[in-house]
Amino acid sequence: MSLRIGIALLLSLLLPVSQALELPEPGALQARLGRDVQAVQVIEPHLSVAGQQLRVRYLGYPAPLVFERLLGADWQRPGREIELRALDGFVSRVPVERFAKYQAWLVQARADGAAFMVDNHAQHEKQVPLGPYYLVWDNIAAPELVAEGGAVWPYQVASIALKPGSREALLPAGLGSGFAEHADLAQKYCLSCHQVNGYGGEKMPLNLAVRAKLLDLRTWRTWLLNPQTLKPGTAMPPLPDTLPAAEREAIVAKLHRYLRAVPVLP
Ligand code: HEC
Repeated sequence: MSLRIGIALLLSLLLPVSQALELPEPGALQARLGRDVQAVQVIEPHLSVAGQQLRVRYLGYPAPLVFERLLGADWQRPGREIELRALDGFVSRVPVERFAKYQAWLVQARADGAAFMVDNHAQHEKQVPLGPYYLVWDNIAAPELVAEGGAVWPYQVASIALKPGSREALLPAGLGSGFAEHADLAQKYCLSCHQVNGYGGEKMPLNLAVRAKLLDLRTWRTWLLNPQTLKPGTAMPPLPDTLPAAEREAIVAKLHRYLRAVPVLP
């Protein structure tokens, strides 16, 4: 074993859960992983709309390989989450189980040499830089991911960390049973930007458990399905229009019911 690998191994054993680790720049990452970037083709959710899919080829590494090298061999222990922090305050927390089910890639450039940027139609943002790293999913191998849109595709990712699961914040004592699915929906579609009881992102760190109790279902529905009618040009994305309409309505209602029920912790 080389000294460098030995030190990396020791560091990964000592690294406590929750310590954020800055991702090395591409050259250094390549040296850490000991291999070249690979091309992966995906249906780019930020550019695709219902019925019109746009494919892009990116260059990067299988995300599990990066996590294993940087976070340690046991990163995939059940119940944990990988936190990906972006430069813009977007914080994505992805349950490790999802990486066993679907293939994720941490990419750093486009394969065709075009600028590493994307237009984010849902958020009315153009030419958004994707670097330093962008988490993408092989949604050509798993078409069920296409409907989810870009909710779990964090870009501008600068650091990663292993975190304990979100259950304590999202399903606190005092909340009735039967809300596990609701909490998963909130985590997937809302909590990269918003929060529930301190858990979530910092792009718009509003506690949805407080706000939902102040908004009736009608206003709530408009915020989730047509936010630009309430605030033109808003950065709040609607629920992906690639989801069937009935499913979007169901998500609106489930999130409202759950977030009104969840106790607001001090
Ligand atoms: C990409 C980040 C992002 C995601 C994901 C997101 N939001 Fe938002 N949301 C925003 C921003 C930014 C605003 C502020 C809108 C404004 O004032 O222009 C906002 C505003 C809101 C508001 C209105 C708050 C008020 O002023 O009363 C509600 C309600 C809301 N979001 C709920 C949700 C729910 C529920 C989800 C998940 C289904 C969600 N958001 C997903 C960024 C996001």
